[in-house]
Amino acid sequence: MSKNQPKPLLPWKVRATISLLTVLTDASCRANGTVNRRLFNFFDLKSSPNATPVNGVSTKDVTVNAENNVWFRLFTPTVAGEVTGDGGATKATSLPVVIFFHGGGYTFLSPSSNLYDAVCRRLCREISAVIVSVNYRLTPEHRYPSQYEDGEAVLRFLDENVTVLPANADLSKCFLAGDSAGGNLAHDVVVRACKTGLQNIRVIGLILIQPFFGGEERTEAEINLVGMPFVSVAKTDWIWKVFLPEGSDRDHGAVNVCGPNAEDLSGLDYPDTLVFVGGFDPLIDWQKRYYDWLKKCGKKAELIEYPNMVHGFHVFPDFPESTQLIMQVKDFINKVSNSK
Ligand SMILES: *[C@@H]1O[C@H](CO)[C@@H](O)[C@H](O)[C@H]1NC(C)=O
Ligand SMILES: *[C@@H]1O[C@H](CO)[C@@H](O)[C@H](O)[C@H]1NC(C)=O
Repeated sequence: MSKNQPKPLLPWKVRATISLLTVLTDASCRANGTVNRRLFNFFDLKSSPNATPVNGVSTKDVTVNAENNVWFRLFTPTVAGEVTGDGGATKATSLPVVIFFHGGGYTFLSPSSNLYDAVCRRLCREISAVIVSVNYRLTPEHRYPSQYEDGEAVLRFLDENVTVLPANADLSKCFLAGDSAGGNLAHDVVVRACKTGLQNIRVIGLILIQPFFGGEERTEAEINLVGMPFVSVAKTDWIWKVFLPEGSDRDHGAVNVCGPNAEDLSGLDYPDTLVFVGGFDPLIDWQKRYYDWLKKCGKKAELIEYPNMVHGFHVFPDFPESTQLIMQVKDFINKVSNSK
């Protein structure tokens, strides 16, 4: 990085967390393509579900496939003043449902990690939506397409077992969302759902927060944005190598989603899509290509750019932009819900 290159401004708490996570993930990713789970899990503090509302949100875990350890954490908002007798559920107006896929390079974290438990609690409370946070198998122990299959399994499970959701959850207003690698999952699961169809759930929107796209080419941002949090070419190359089927390169359709192996979206009823990008995210060029590609395919898409933000910024409430992003997600959900 040249001396003159602008650097992102990070509050000290954010800087400390990023440094810790970087040291931890670097130390956990071994050169031989395995992950030191014992080391990572020691620092990856988890929280249990809590049926008693905390700050207006109650949670519970639901098993989908015990063999593959596929489950989700359900976040339900309790609306003040309208609490009924049955354990804090509300009879307020119907709530949208957001199926959320966490980031972590397909390699790390889960819905019970404190980091993502907090992210989903905030989304649930601020948006006033039911959040389904998906636990999927991790790589390198489980390569592509395990994660995508698990995501689809959760969608099918909900489609067939709608009663696991609170009575005021409105399945005709369902959104898929994800950050970083979770964005890739949300995209892929939507494509799968478009192809095979659903009975009860209607997916009307897709929200990708800084998805983890890439390809063989090195883009300008990848070359110029060196030393940024969470994403470096060395780290993303390592992940793609342990995630993709043996013998694939980074132009595989799971990485370079709109490259040479792109899906044909033309016949699909692809939902309205909102893409968030950050100016200090080395993946920004790939994310913008994705947005351009959706437009070119005739799909409804919006792009919101945060010029001063790094990869993963939204998980840090210390950034005012993180709150702004949640409000934009809320506006998008309301707008799309009202237009259907
Ligand atoms: C990778 O390295 C770790 C630590 O040195 C070792 O325990 C593990 O068996 C190795 N795995 C493979 C597949 O080589
Ligand atoms: C719906 O739930 C039942 C009971 O838990 C389960 O056996 C079934 O497989 C679920 N459906 C899907 C599609 O996962």
